[in-house]
Amino acid sequence: MSIRSTVGSVLESAIGRERTNTIRRMERRARNALAKRLAMEPPQKPASKPQKKPAPPKPKPTPAPRGWQPSDPFVSHPEPHLTRHELLQGIHEKIRPRTYLEIGIRTGRSMVLSRCRSIGVDPFFKIDNPIHCDVQLIKATSDDFFAGDEPLAHFEGVPVDLAFIDGMHLSDFALRDFINIEPFMADTGVVVLDDVLPRNGLEAARDRKTEPWTGDVYKVVEILRRRRPDLVVLLINTAPTGTAVVLGVDSASTILKDAYAEEEDYLLRPDPQTPPQEYMERSIAIEPDVLLKSPVWDELVAIRESGASADLLPLWAELRSLTS
Ligand SMILES: C[S@@+](CC[C@H](N)C(=O)[O-])C[C@H]1O[C@@H](n2cnc3c(N)ncnc32)[C@H](O)[C@@H]1O
Repeated sequence: MSIRSTVGSVLESAIGRERTNTIRRMERRARNALAKRLAMEPPQKPASKPQKKPAPPKPKPTPAPRGWQPSDPFVSHPEPHLTRHELLQGIHEKIRPRTYLEIGIRTGRSMVLSRCRSIGVDPFFKIDNPIHCDVQLIKATSDDFFAGDEPLAHFEGVPVDLAFIDGMHLSDFALRDFINIEPFMADTGVVVLDDVLPRNGLEAARDRKTEPWTGDVYKVVEILRRRRPDLVVLLINTAPTGTAVVLGVDSASTILKDAYAEEEDYLLRPDPQTPPQEYMERSIAIEPDVLLKSPVWDELVAIRESGASADLLPLWAELRSLTS
């Protein structure tokens, strides 16, 4: 029996059934009213989950090195005053080429310097610099480009006055570029090779380890000097990785082509590379402003514009005598 029935029976016997029933009705009404009120109350919010503590700030990842990093010190060398682009611009201004051929375009930073009919070759170029010349851009490796029919048709028979070799930074590729370009050069033409003065052995590795990276392109200069004493090969102290300026080209020469197979062991010699000390110290390099100030450029242009065949040997001798 519930407590309420027990209380009811006791009350009935004490005050009679009628009065007890009245009390029972009042109690029921009160209970219903209370139940109704409780039902109308907004449901209690479920107990909120315990607040997560704010996560401690994640440790910032160490910024990834941009590209590769030189991991050993550079051989001490004179601080360059001009960059390779400033040198290239100076040469453009001095010789005012009729035609310009560039191997390795990337974003067009060197192509923007050209104001003449130009060809650029690169399998992966993505130009993001405004170009100011009549240019044909070829998406191909330089080897494939030269293997094609009439690769320089865009020049309509005008020989190359200025060429810039800045494609794959491996000596075998750069030497083939030179060999393939020379037959198309004017005898007053200028070939510029980038990245010939590595600042340590690591920068010259064939298997790229550093940014900037010269690869072993310095070997091309070594081969030109050894096999082609007829050429004028000038090493220039430009930032960051040195430039070679080559004149006295001979479009009929096959010496390098014939020697290529014999040079392959040297060209492909695996890392570590050991560039000559005088390259890394740049003790055999001349300053770019000394080269650009030479009166030879005006004489070269005058000879080219005259169209007459002229003895260029005195000009080459003058260039060879340049020292910083
Ligand atoms: C150092 S970047 C050229 C930079 C450009 N000349 C400048 O000064 O702004 C080298 C370029 O050579 C290109 N390259 C790589 N292999 C090549 C090949 N076999 N023939 C031609 N270009 C190549 C790369 O795609 C890259 O854009």
